[in-house]
Amino acid sequence: MTPAPSSSSDVLILGSGLAGLVCALHLADHRRVTIVTKGSLLEGSSAWAQGGIAAAMAREDSIDSHVEDTLVAGAGLCRADVVRRIAARAPVVIRWLESQGVVFTAEGGDGSPLHLGREGGHSARRIVHVADSTGRAVQETLEQRVLRHPNITVLERRHAVDLVTSGAPGEPGRRVQGVYVLDRDSGEVQTLGGSAVILATGGLGKVYLYTTNPDVSTGDGVAIAWRAGCSVADLEFIQFHPTCLYHPDAKSFLISEALRGEGGRLVLPDGTRFMPAHDARAELAPRDIVARAIDFEMKTRGLDCVWLDMTHHPRSFLQAHFPTIFARCLELGIDMSTRPIPVVPAAHYSCGGVVTDAAARTDVAGLYAVGEVASTGLHGANRLASNSLLECLVMGEAAAADILAAAPVVPPALPDWDHSRVTPARESVLVAHNWDAIRRLMWDLVGIVRSDERLALAARRLDALHAEVADFYARYRIDNDLLELRNVAEVARLIVRGALQRRESRGLHYNRDVPETAAEAVDTVLTP
Ligand code: FAD
Ligand code: SIN
Repeated sequence: MTPAPSSSSDVLILGSGLAGLVCALHLADHRRVTIVTKGSLLEGSSAWAQGGIAAAMAREDSIDSHVEDTLVAGAGLCRADVVRRIAARAPVVIRWLESQGVVFTAEGGDGSPLHLGREGGHSARRIVHVADSTGRAVQETLEQRVLRHPNITVLERRHAVDLVTSGAPGEPGRRVQGVYVLDRDSGEVQTLGGSAVILATGGLGKVYLYTTNPDVSTGDGVAIAWRAGCSVADLEFIQFHPTCLYHPDAKSFLISEALRGEGGRLVLPDGTRFMPAHDARAELAPRDIVARAIDFEMKTRGLDCVWLDMTHHPRSFLQAHFPTIFARCLELGIDMSTRPIPVVPAAHYSCGGVVTDAAARTDVAGLYAVGEVASTGLHGANRLASNSLLECLVMGEAAAADILAAAPVVPPALPDWDHSRVTPARESVLVAHNWDAIRRLMWDLVGIVRSDERLALAARRLDALHAEVADFYARYRIDNDLLELRNVAEVARLIVRGALQRRESRGLHYNRDVPETAAEAVDTVLTP
């Protein structure tokens, strides 16, 4: 097959979640932008976000308090300067979203202040939201802006495979020049040149068997950046959301923390509340504590799930505040106004990622990382609820400003993708088998509670799987499944390396062989 033609754009954005769309909208009046996205424009975690966006906007709240709550949740590992800058910018980016057309839920009628939800770890009502489908409302509004902008080209169903850079990994002065992109429908690989490239590829929940994340969250950006020579940090801090719906017909459906913010109680089969025995903040303790408590109760009592009881609210309140969750539960035969909702923890968010500075720059010149793919220092060892969409908004703005401050670098002619040494795979079962093996292994051995023995076993098994996947990649034509498997295998190994390197328990990383928290908090930085 002849290679697809090369093309070039000023800025290439890989991913169309909130991070990608915010970057595009801040750049497009000044630069030509191409968004490359693996599925459809709205596929990604952003459109699934329920609770909302943290911003200190209530009269009785303050930036200081938002900063303090973020630092406490982050268990000593946040970068205080980054936390302050992002928290301080929160009210401004909320107003920016309103200026783009997002209509947030208000307390009452026209002109009344925004309704603010409450979530675990927040000492005040601080969550700006659009009922219980904030992400969808924000993404649909920004999508319309993006599609109407004459300087933005959107390429859907295109999988970014690897970056093209000048020089070899580790060489000083190395610069990104473009990206190889697989067209999922034609199977062709196109070379796109860019003066700057933004990784906005989101999270990696699909590395785990049970996750709240959509199918596109396979850690591609972390793997791509790693292969290009970027440092990654703190990948052992995987946030397990305490309450994912437990039902055979509901894949990855989140039951928002906002329900616990409205008094939801976690209960055992006999209706007894268990969180007060684990933490004084009970159901509103930070997520690591709630997820570990649920894990403990399930394992010691042999339960498949626990229950979230919202029956203290009338049906009308639940339907008005949580219309999406109410309707989905009802579809599955659960009337949450009359019976508790079965829930389990599931992999939700990666606090670590590609190391960036305050302007979202990575170790490779011209390459930026924004959103869940990045490690900025905001989340530390445990992300505070609803700080993630906020980070996409503030860091997207910062990355765009940095790109606009420099003159664009025209990329040289780039080499085409070479298909000549590979053949089409004869059977897909090998890829499917290894996909399943990695996700199960990560769930069983690198989950909410870890141990040295389990981590060492995971590392050995992942080395073998990684080598097998590298062999497939060298021999067979690429497709979306093989590329994702290659990235999942890479990222799983990095998570385990980080977990083995950390000789303490902190935030989301709990190793029962080293349960103490060290006096000094140190990032786990891995360099290729
Ligand atoms: P995403 O929105 O996941 O977008 C990633 C994009 O990259 C997608 O378009 C994807 O297709 C694309 N992509 C991936 N790999 C490739 C590739 N190789 N090539 C091309 N494109 C690629 N956070 C909050 O702050 N508040 C909330 O209320 C909240 N609720 C949540 C609810 C759920 C169910 C989930 C899963 C997460 C929630 N989070 C919430 C977390 C938050 O939604 C995410 O961290 C955030 O949306 C990440 O945005 P992003 O733009 O970085 O990534
Ligand atoms: C939720 O609504 O519980 C998710 C919020 C988040 O992940 O920040």
